[in-house]
Amino acid sequence: MQPNQSTAADLSPLVPAYDSILALAPYQTGKPIEELTREYGVSDVVKLASNENPMGCSPRVTLAVTEQLGQLSRYPDGKGYYLKQALADFNDVEVEQITLGNGSDDLLDILARSFVGADDVIVYSQYAFVVYSMLAKMQGARDVEVPAQRFGHDLKAMSQAVQDNPNIKIVFITNPNNPTGTQLEHKELRRFVASVPPSVLVVLDEAYIEYSPESNNRALLDEFDNVVIVRTFSKAYGLAGLRIGYALSSVAVADLLNRIRQPFNVSRVGLAAAAAALADQDFIEKTRLMNDEQMRWLERQFDALGLGFIKSHANFIMVEVQVEMEDITAASIHQALLEQGVIVRPLGNYGLPNWLRITVGLAEDNLRLIDTLRSILSEG
Ligand SMILES: Cc1ncc(COP(=O)(O)O)c(C=O)c1O
Repeated sequence: MQPNQSTAADLSPLVPAYDSILALAPYQTGKPIEELTREYGVSDVVKLASNENPMGCSPRVTLAVTEQLGQLSRYPDGKGYYLKQALADFNDVEVEQITLGNGSDDLLDILARSFVGADDVIVYSQYAFVVYSMLAKMQGARDVEVPAQRFGHDLKAMSQAVQDNPNIKIVFITNPNNPTGTQLEHKELRRFVASVPPSVLVVLDEAYIEYSPESNNRALLDEFDNVVIVRTFSKAYGLAGLRIGYALSSVAVADLLNRIRQPFNVSRVGLAAAAAALADQDFIEKTRLMNDEQMRWLERQFDALGLGFIKSHANFIMVEVQVEMEDITAASIHQALLEQGVIVRPLGNYGLPNWLRITVGLAEDNLRLIDTLRSILSEG
């Protein structure tokens, strides 16, 4: 990751809490559609960069949101009573095991602030979600990145890393993984959790679990008090703009997280929208079917274009686009796609400079992507 532009000299005489904060680079978000329109004057933009749901969200959400509009002067229910009840039923847990967040990013942050201090250690896998290493820097902590195995988590090596370092406080595991789309077997994950001392928190980040329901590891919560599962309404549920996520954990861990979280971290509109979205599992089923069908179509197109890809269990796919003979790079293709109104995600900041991550879109979005990509590749 590139260090941020700010230096200690810029701040002087102010000094941040930890030197590591100066090494932080702001999180690179997918380019918003409005920005591309402004920069390149293209109006018909297809955004396949942030793993959002191209089908939008359940129609039930519109009604739930509309009902809240007359109440905007009132604070939300800080305890999120109705949403927590619904989540408890849905996940077969007690209400006291749930913590709500302003997106799952908020929960990852609350977890780090609750359990990780200066000189503690956070562990995660190479090619896993970039936010974990940022959290370590924010807390003045250290991080250990365990080399990936075939683009996925090497749980044996991660277990060894935990045995080797008594200062480790949290292990983050992304399943399915962003950006590689790899998935872990339940048996393998259970073996890993069993190998970790009970004083180390294992955080399973399941942002894409709706696309891979067979890899749901909810059962681990009944067996291990040091497991936390973090989920989001931003991806399959289609509510990224509203910012709602939740964590499932032991009652004791949830009690701690709820002390740290801001009292009104989920808005009134967000609470109502999430409850309505959760109640519409038919929408999630339709989303999954569309995603599966379009993912297979994209795989066939990448094969036909001679581009390598990693089999994905989520709603995005990582494609290798380096064409060395013709001097075409992932960065140049990313730029050429942008100029033609197609936004995808370059992965240089993940140490994957030859790869692009592409969110699965609607059939017409994917067709536009493939047609544009084909013409870029043929022009060289
Ligand atoms: C693996 C993973 N975790 C967490 C998040 C954060 O999502 P949100 O804060 O929108 O819930 C993302 C978003 O890209 C993600 O890919």
